[in-house]
Amino acid sequence: EEANLALIFDKYKDKFTTFPKEKGWMTEELYKYQGFWHQSKNVVSVETVMATQDTFQALPTDIYLATLPKSGTTWLKALVFSTVNRNMYKNKPLSSHPLQTSNPHNCLPFVECEVLKTSPTYVDAYLPRLFATHMPYTSLPQSILDSRCRIVYMCRNPKDVLVSLFHFANNLRGKSQNVMTFEEAFEMFTKGVIPNGPYWDHVKGYYKIGLEQPTKIMFLTYEDMKMDTPKYLRRLAKFLGYPFTEEEEAKGMVEDIVSLCSFDNLSKVNKHGSLSIGIPNYAFFREGKVGDWRKHLTTEMSETLDQITKEKFDGLDLVL
Ligand code: A3P
Repeated sequence: EEANLALIFDKYKDKFTTFPKEKGWMTEELYKYQGFWHQSKNVVSVETVMATQDTFQALPTDIYLATLPKSGTTWLKALVFSTVNRNMYKNKPLSSHPLQTSNPHNCLPFVECEVLKTSPTYVDAYLPRLFATHMPYTSLPQSILDSRCRIVYMCRNPKDVLVSLFHFANNLRGKSQNVMTFEEAFEMFTKGVIPNGPYWDHVKGYYKIGLEQPTKIMFLTYEDMKMDTPKYLRRLAKFLGYPFTEEEEAKGMVEDIVSLCSFDNLSKVNKHGSLSIGIPNYAFFREGKVGDWRKHLTTEMSETLDQITKEKFDGLDLVL
């Protein structure tokens, strides 16, 4: 994958290195492409997005999980993977379930990473294909927009996304780079400069299309999912075409999936080891709570963000 990343970087670099650029949260700079900030030299990056747009072919049976980083991607991957594939594992011991041994990111790939693979993740036998993406709606490859595939979007309160991203970035910055201050992170977030941001544009893009095409896009929030996971998991399963049957309900299948995918369980499974790209597994499991921002934001910061969110979401029935 690394070799392919270098090849793809070389192929596309002349197209994007002249674009507006900002200091990044992790190691690489962020480039503005089609109105959104993207990392570079990364598996999810401006160059892999461009390559995906050029080559990726969606299938009508595909399912896409769209999120901004730190909005609950890992959790959503776990929930969808275990729901859609539940028949494959139902008669096996729980300890053999992939989520009991592997990071959800290894179970359900980003579509942006497909261009880095020498052979595609899915062969026809494994339909439907499950992919995640951090791409904004307007940058999705045409074939995803045109096909009858389904998209699930999960968003999260902007203040918790900011706090989560701040910790994640500092975790990955390592010792070679200065640790970022929260003030610096706040400044960048309010300017919209986050990977795949601005936050508000990303959320709004999917939200509006979701209103117009409710059978194509399901809009979920991290907060709702936290508040009543079984309720929203049932809705999600139904939307994806995998509703829980009465028999499954009677057996407690919903609760089993909820507890398999719970923060407590997954954070235990992912205490050690790392993804092939080097990110430690534990970095995706920090607190897993709603409202952790209260520990980090001053009243003034909170009011500033509320004001921006109010302006950006003006006219939308969207409270986050
Ligand atoms: P915090 O940093 O606030 O704890 P992403 O998966 O999009 O990178 O988002 C990471 C955030 O989701 C982190 O938030 C992480 O702790 C939280 N998270 C990961 N797994 C979770 C789970 N199973 N349930 C709830 N939250 C989870």
